[in-house]
Amino acid sequence: MYNYSTRGTRLAIKNTVVTKQLFFLKTALCDYRVGAVLPSTRRALRRVLTELPRECRYVVEYGPGDGVSTRAILERLPPDGRVVAIERNPDFLPRLWTIDDGRLRLMLGDVRAISTQLDQLGLPRIDAVISSIPFSFLSNSERENIVERTAAALAPAGRFIVYQYSPLMLRYLRRAFTAVRVRFALRNVPPYFIMVAEKSPSIQTDSRRTFQKINPRTDHELLLSF
Ligand SMILES: C[S@@+](CC[C@H](N)C(=O)[O-])C[C@H]1O[C@@H](n2cnc3c(N)ncnc32)[C@H](O)[C@@H]1O
Repeated sequence: MYNYSTRGTRLAIKNTVVTKQLFFLKTALCDYRVGAVLPSTRRALRRVLTELPRECRYVVEYGPGDGVSTRAILERLPPDGRVVAIERNPDFLPRLWTIDDGRLRLMLGDVRAISTQLDQLGLPRIDAVISSIPFSFLSNSERENIVERTAAALAPAGRFIVYQYSPLMLRYLRRAFTAVRVRFALRNVPPYFIMVAEKSPSIQTDSRRTFQKINPRTDHELLLSF
């Protein structure tokens, strides 16, 4: 027998997803600095967030957009965790305000400026900074400054996790961090690179220029070494 209520629920969920995607697309068309036409997929975000450090409590997010990534981060933090999310486009604020979670603090502003005051965000320490901002629109010195300030503000075992469509930031991360690992998430539209940078040498890096496939059937991702 056909279950109409399940079908109705599925249609409603699909409708919500499409509405969110259309809103994101509309915002992106009005502001090229959004840097994407669609929000990240949940699968790709799951992949990004497996890179959070183990004892992760305090997170700064650069570029939360409509909040899909912010919600995913909050889901992974303990009840006493906190997230400070910095977004420069005010059109995203109404969407971000719908996140009903006392652990979240939203800041409307530009990472280029706010990264000078990361020690004043009210966090006891910063375990991870997660960035999806399109660095390609920034100058060399702006990229360098953001990476250096982020490295300085992170706790000793903290991680800077950058996901975007190109490995552009790799050389900047390598200059400021001891260890950098790169992954490629295919389950996003379009796919993106996930760069994980640490000050402490706990990440194993491989200097060979090889592409090593890992479990491509299930993960659809490649571990890349540049
Ligand atoms: C590619 S979208 C990603 C949105 C969301 N994190 C996701 O994964 O779907 C990048 C976001 O960063 C924001 N952004 C771009 N440059 C920024 C900057 N300099 N400071 C703060 N936010 C910025 C954009 O407005 C946009 O919301």
